[in-house]
Amino acid sequence: MKFFIDTANLDQISEAQQLGVLDGVTTNPSLMAKEGITGKDNILKHYMDICEIVDGDVSAEVVATDFDGMVKEGEELAALHSQIVVKVPMIKDGVKALKYFYDKGIKTNCTLVFSPGQALLAAKAGATYVSPFLGRLDDISTDGLNLIAEIRLIYDNYGFETQILAASIRHTMHVIDCAKIGADVMTGPLSSIDGLLKHPLTDIGLEKFLADYKKGNS
Ligand code: E4P
Repeated sequence: MKFFIDTANLDQISEAQQLGVLDGVTTNPSLMAKEGITGKDNILKHYMDICEIVDGDVSAEVVATDFDGMVKEGEELAALHSQIVVKVPMIKDGVKALKYFYDKGIKTNCTLVFSPGQALLAAKAGATYVSPFLGRLDDISTDGLNLIAEIRLIYDNYGFETQILAASIRHTMHVIDCAKIGADVMTGPLSSIDGLLKHPLTDIGLEKFLADYKKGNS
């Protein structure tokens, strides 16, 4: 399972990278705005800065919603750095753009996916990643994990190579549940990765080991 961090915050990206388990980054226009990154030049520079920190794929989202606009923006983003993956929304022109980028050998992440049918279309169009939004479904009392399981089944039935990128992960249990279902990738906040570390028995056990060592060596 690949671990992506879902943020545009450079400190958090560096912290996850230093842990040694980071495989990539996902961003979106809201996450860029949260960091105060505005204006085309600043946004493009920020993507470059992220690519300098991590070794893996970095999703950069287009803001155009028509085919020509998405292609123009996506080609510009892809030309920035070999790690850039063009993030395209699940709309009709987005599906056309996914196929266009597939034919050009440009990696894509199909975002805002909330149904198995949308995921099937993204795979048919050759998306590199499909991003079902787990947390946002849970927010409206709909089982987000079930969507991931349905997409896994469909992709396995036909051997689609599109990778399931479980997105809108909110906490550590989402990560564990997605791993059980067989999501290829998860993207979440730093806290969802850090949470995997924690167990009180680890802390209690380590404290006891160190206390016993001190006793024996003082
Ligand atoms: C996916 O790539 C999105 O950036 C993200 O996971 C959305 O998460 P949210 O629902 O917490 O905003």
